Amino acid sequence: MADAHRRTPPISFDRVADRYDATRGLPSPLAEQVQEALANHLGSSLSLEVGVGTGRHLLRLLARREARLVGVDVSPAMLRQARARGASRLVRSDARMLPFRDRGFDQSLSTHLLHLVEEWPRVLAEIGRVTSQAYSTVLELEEAEPDLSQEYRRRARDEGVGREAPGLSERKLPERLSADQVVRVGELAYEREGAQVIDDLASRAFRDQWEVPAPAHDRIIAELRRQHAGAKVRTHLDVRIASWRADSIRQFAEQELARASRANAVEAKAVPGTSSADRRRPLPSAP
Ligand SMILES: C[S@@+](CC[C@H](N)C(=O)[O-])C[C@H]1O[C@@H](n2cnc3c(N)ncnc32)[C@H](O)[C@@H]1O
Repeated sequence: MADAHRRTPPISFDRVADRYDATRGLPSPLAEQVQEALANHLGSSLSLEVGVGTGRHLLRLLARREARLVGVDVSPAMLRQARARGASRLVRSDARMLPFRDRGFDQSLSTHLLHLVEEWPRVLAEIGRVTSQAYSTVLELEEAEPDLSQEYRRRARDEGVGREAPGLSERKLPERLSADQVVRVGELAYEREGAQVIDDLASRAFRDQWEVPAPAHDRIIAELRRQHAGAKVRTHLDVRIASWRADSIRQFAEQELARASRANAVEAKAVPGTSSADRRRPLPSAP
């Protein structure tokens, strides 16, 4: 784990930047409620959003004169979208090695980032290092019926081409480390046409679909259309902002880094050549 950031390339969202907001945006008025709540939460603090993407949650904050926000992302195309929204202090960088000084920011934020990074404790350690007060995330707790994304994932797994997220979702973070503060932002129940949800899945808008081979993808989409195109997808969304003191995040990240390095050492000892570092080493090329 310690050196992994030098080996695994980051997961850039360049390929979906032009349709990211259309496929992930929250419905109104919840989207505006989140933007308002975050603007109040961060206020005039010097704040950092890591994996800022298009900056979809930051619209209200960026419209305020007192806003002092820096956004970091690996994807130039996502950063361009954020710039078009009014974010001006943007830095292209990997979350596993942030180019900022210790405790340089009052507050920091990440949302829908940690599940993309196998070395997520390293990201939290970096966030903890550069933050003096608190780290927050926006929890989008969603229940859909029928859950077509879940159905897609299940079918991909059954075909042997499913891919689990490499990291830990921010949604799961409060289960591992109790949040110091949770602010309820709002709830909304709404319906979408099944056909529209399947169109989003057909366009491979979501990260866990990117490596599904075309024949399997086409089969899964055809089957979803056959079963659910005429259905209504009922969704319930409950949005909260969870926050932790920066020192709690630092301590937790250190514990998780130590745990990962112990697990790696045990793995390497048990079967030489099977540590995750070894697995990432390129195979010798064929003669
Ligand atoms: C799912 S999007 C979330 C964007 C935004 N936080 C939101 O909630 O809409 C994840 C973002 O993290 C970026 N990303 C992925 N791995 C990263 C890394 N190691 N360092 C920095 N950014 C990363 C991607 O390019 C993408 O813009």
